Amino acid sequence: MLEQRDISFIIPTKVGVTKRKNYRLKSALRKKDMNNLTNYQIKTQLNKVQTPCYICEEELLEKNLQLLKQIEDQSGAKILLALKGFAFSPLLYLISKYLKGSCASGLYEARYAKEYIQGEIHTFSPAFKDDEFEEICNLSDHIVFNSLNQFHKFRSKILPKNSIALRINPEVSTVKVDIYNPCGLYSRLGITKKELKLKDEDFDFIDGFHFHALCEQNLDDLKLVLKSFEQNFGQYFSKLKWLNFGGGHHITRDDYDRQGLIQLIQDYKKKYPHLDIYLEPGEAIGWQTGTLVATILDIVHNDIDIAILDTSAEAHMPDTLAMPYTPEVVDGKIGHELPYRYRFGGNSCLAGDIIGDYSFSKPLSIGQKIIFKDQIHYTIVKNTTFNGIKLPSLAVLKKDGILEVAKTFGYDEYKNRN
Ligand SMILES: Cc1ncc(COP(=O)(O)O)c(C=O)c1O
Repeated sequence: MLEQRDISFIIPTKVGVTKRKNYRLKSALRKKDMNNLTNYQIKTQLNKVQTPCYICEEELLEKNLQLLKQIEDQSGAKILLALKGFAFSPLLYLISKYLKGSCASGLYEARYAKEYIQGEIHTFSPAFKDDEFEEICNLSDHIVFNSLNQFHKFRSKILPKNSIALRINPEVSTVKVDIYNPCGLYSRLGITKKELKLKDEDFDFIDGFHFHALCEQNLDDLKLVLKSFEQNFGQYFSKLKWLNFGGGHHITRDDYDRQGLIQLIQDYKKKYPHLDIYLEPGEAIGWQTGTLVATILDIVHNDIDIAILDTSAEAHMPDTLAMPYTPEVVDGKIGHELPYRYRFGGNSCLAGDIIGDYSFSKPLSIGQKIIFKDQIHYTIVKNTTFNGIKLPSLAVLKKDGILEVAKTFGYDEYKNRN
């Protein structure tokens, strides 16, 4: 196994050297510990990046997409990328290779989908705006309305190419965190059974039903939601052409029951052969595909050691506060297991801008880089310029092991938004 001490002195000076070393290491490590190879590749090229910087790994993204493609091929479902969770332009060319298209949350994501991704574009918004709807119709293949008000208001404006659906609230959800529960008490998302008053002629317009009820969940949770969805809304299925089971399926996570999902969709398609089934995961696509690198700017002491980083939980890693959770770091442990213990805080004025408590086998020093794991989904898409903190750059660790910085940001981003 390749340990940090083995590689800390091999800082390559030329790209070719990095490449050759990577190939040799890759074959030595194949199947043994690819995580260490990735850490090696990143650590030895950190001199190329100014922090903060997200690094998305091409190989890991492609691995996720291959898993999703297998589900598509074996189940017959159509899988879309939910751009709200993952919109990393330098690597979006891969999406069109594996998935059927993308889903957008409104006009700008639909425009972006058109620009970067081939295939179908499905657009859902809690409420469409008059001055945007015409362009949304031009861009979109599927349009999903969140209420009957919106359906009646806009249905005369749809184009022949638009396939129309209603978002349904199945009123069953096992999501534990309230802000991520689309089916919680008084949810504004989707039409409940009580509110769904449809006439036969409405089905001259309506082709599909859509629900989104999951968050980072496995097959059992989908089964629970589907049971209620079918019981309460199955009476309409014969009039429809497609169903969209939304996102929140953690399909690429190691313990996800992928075989079970294939079986479930096959069974559904046997029961309702006239229906296409769509899934629109976001997180599962960006899941464990890369890191956020930050630098320690200072270490202060207030009973405990607190490292202040040039990143921010609030601005760059928002789910660490919203969920909340503590991200793992390369070479360190969450909690106090190892002898050198630090709290990591962001570089903003917010007292609660705390990433978490960590421990290390060696003391940390000012100027040292810290690599946070799994920071690609629901981070970049949610970044803010709060406190004027620099937006993290976007870099790609390519399949050949070379790190390339694709986008950097500066003062203009702050100025233009304020
Ligand atoms: C309508 C809809 N579809 C898809 C998604 C993607 O969900 P996830 O990224 O959890 O897979 C979301 C997430 O909020 C959503 O609201």
